Amino acid sequence: MDRSSSRSWHRRRTRKADIHTRRNELDTLQTIFERRSIRTYKREPIPEAHLKQILEAGRQAPSASNRQPWHFIVVGQPQLKERVAQACGDQIWMADAAYIVIAVGLPAASSKWYKVDVAIALENIVLAAYSLGYGTCWIGDFKQAELKNICGIPEDLDIVACTPLGVPHVKPAARERKPWGQVFSADRYGQPTQLQ
Ligand SMILES: Cc1cc2nc3c(=O)[nH]c(=O)nc-3n(C[C@H](O)[C@H](O)[C@H](O)COP(=O)(O)O)c2cc1C
Repeated sequence: MDRSSSRSWHRRRTRKADIHTRRNELDTLQTIFERRSIRTYKREPIPEAHLKQILEAGRQAPSASNRQPWHFIVVGQPQLKERVAQACGDQIWMADAAYIVIAVGLPAASSKWYKVDVAIALENIVLAAYSLGYGTCWIGDFKQAELKNICGIPEDLDIVACTPLGVPHVKPAARERKPWGQVFSADRYGQPTQLQ
């Protein structure tokens, strides 16, 4: 192989590798500390390999007695996304994201814990998405019956939350959090910790 063809081979290899490593996954704590709710998205797709990893993070979440009382609907069809966004209190910006993920609980599988389990799994999805460079925004404002109708979700299931999932167009500043003293106690409720 002469030098120029060797260089172009290297470039080709690098470009191919970039597809998989362009967004190196972030460290877990960095992901948790840097994640923000994203409400403006680029109309860009998410490579299938990334989408699969993000969803797999949800599937691997812990759940009470490992019952996994969840189902996730990944809405990517543009007209459906618009209808879903309308059913989410007219938060139309959601439809710009590549997908809207609807997190559905299965009460029959775990009546006591399904909401907690679904929330944990969706948070896994939220964090995995950020770790790979994508934005999400937890959505609690939605009309249960409307969303069920739009996506054909059976009556006996319970939608817990949704999130857009896409390429962020903004990098919002961190929102304030309550001070440590209001959030943590040492040993007994209201007893300050030594930590700041
Ligand atoms: C249960 C729940 C419901 C929420 N519902 C909405 C919503 O309907 N629309 C929205 O724009 N953000 C919603 N959010 C996002 C919060 O506003 C956001 O997490 C909070 O302001 C903190 O900002 P951050 O996520 O950027 O740290 C919701 C968050 C949670 C946890």
